[in-house]
Amino acid sequence: MTESPGHHEHVTAQQAAAKRNLWMHFTRHSSYADSDVPVIVRGSGQYVFDQHGKRYLDGLAGLFVSQIGHGRAEVAEAAARQGRELAYFPLWSYANPRAIELAQRLTELAPGDLNRVFFTTSGSEAVESAWKLAKQYFKLTGEYGRYKVLSREIAYHGTSMGALAITGLPSIKEPFEPLPPGGVRVPNTNFYRAPAFVADDLTQFGIWAADEIERAIVREGPESVAAVFLEPVQNSGGCFPPPPGYFQRVREICDRHGVLLVSDEVICAFGRLGHYFGAQRYGYHPDIITFAKGVTSGYAPMGGMLVNDRLMEPFNEGNATFLHGVTFAGHPVSCAVALANLDVFEKEDLLGNVRANEAGFRATLEKLHDLPIVGDVRGAGYFYGIELVKDKATRETFSDDESERLLRGFLSPALFDAGLICRADDRGDPVIQLSPPLTCTQEHFDEMEQILRTVLTQAWSRL
Ligand SMILES: Cc1ncc(COP(=O)(O)O)c(C=O)c1O
Repeated sequence: MTESPGHHEHVTAQQAAAKRNLWMHFTRHSSYADSDVPVIVRGSGQYVFDQHGKRYLDGLAGLFVSQIGHGRAEVAEAAARQGRELAYFPLWSYANPRAIELAQRLTELAPGDLNRVFFTTSGSEAVESAWKLAKQYFKLTGEYGRYKVLSREIAYHGTSMGALAITGLPSIKEPFEPLPPGGVRVPNTNFYRAPAFVADDLTQFGIWAADEIERAIVREGPESVAAVFLEPVQNSGGCFPPPPGYFQRVREICDRHGVLLVSDEVICAFGRLGHYFGAQRYGYHPDIITFAKGVTSGYAPMGGMLVNDRLMEPFNEGNATFLHGVTFAGHPVSCAVALANLDVFEKEDLLGNVRANEAGFRATLEKLHDLPIVGDVRGAGYFYGIELVKDKATRETFSDDESERLLRGFLSPALFDAGLICRADDRGDPVIQLSPPLTCTQEHFDEMEQILRTVLTQAWSRL
């Protein structure tokens, strides 16, 4: 890249301001005391570029967001057009044309009778809204005691207080205790770490994991349980797909006990698993789907929930009102962007691309099994986790100290330096996560595999 005069001074001043004034999220700021804050200035297709012009393969789609890839002028132009026509008007008592069009389009894409869309501006707000809806719905229908929510161990469902109470990661909850009461944990579907009595049989493992949900409902008292929140493929912990029949059994359990099934698809919707919604891939019918991220591919912020007719019914009568809202929900610009994003999905058959290439993606990542540090490769669609282990045979994981040195000390910076954006995460056992734009093809999978191979080999030699 040719640098304009003054570029160096600009970058230096930008670094100083970044370090002095910007508070990055979930970021250990001390780690930038002696090194530059990475500044991503531009994106194009599957790649992004930093302040020095260096290119990175965006193996995480930003943060599970950029489904259509970066630098799409037609989506940016849709935002500009809408801004000129009507930049903002609230969804409180008023509709706007783009919100109506998007609500209709999403319900057409959604499974079953999810015919109502409640917009938010983020995934946390979507999860929060789903819990609030469940609570108010049960109050309106006379089941006053139902307020608890079940969710899985290590699952991430967001950071606002309500969503955090549903999140199953003790370390990010502890500083904010006490949280709203009612969060109950059940086992996740990490087959690699299945209890010994079901470790040899995926189907039996799935039956056990689903039945644990029923046991928790019964233990808590079904009359106190409002909803179960599950991701189609659980992200945190490193991509746990559902065992065969798991969701069908959970649906039966929910029906038996009058509990709502919420499919938290903040990551898994909009093509991540080769379908518009994860529930479609696994063939189940949730009462609510929460979404965010990929609905706009990040060209503007948006979240929301799709709700079935039954849940809306009591709110259609008399003076009933869902007493909940946020200023920017259904933002006309975000809705225009989401519509343009979905146009790209259709024009380029991105779901078809994921379905056609996901076997290749898996096979390419599975080549890494020959490395001693790679314990498990798991996931679905364009959504994979690679679990790292100290001993392949025993599946022994790393101590906290080793994990700290391995992931934060080496892997995260080394992968970034090698030109791959992905996530090295140790909120469960240590994993590397990949969730690339849905436009990726074999050449990008090969690039990921080569970088991972080099860096993981170096990591092993340092242990
Ligand atoms: C499954 C799930 N739910 C909720 C959230 C929270 O979304 P947001 O960060 O937009 O608030 C996330 C974010 O990653 C998520 O993965």
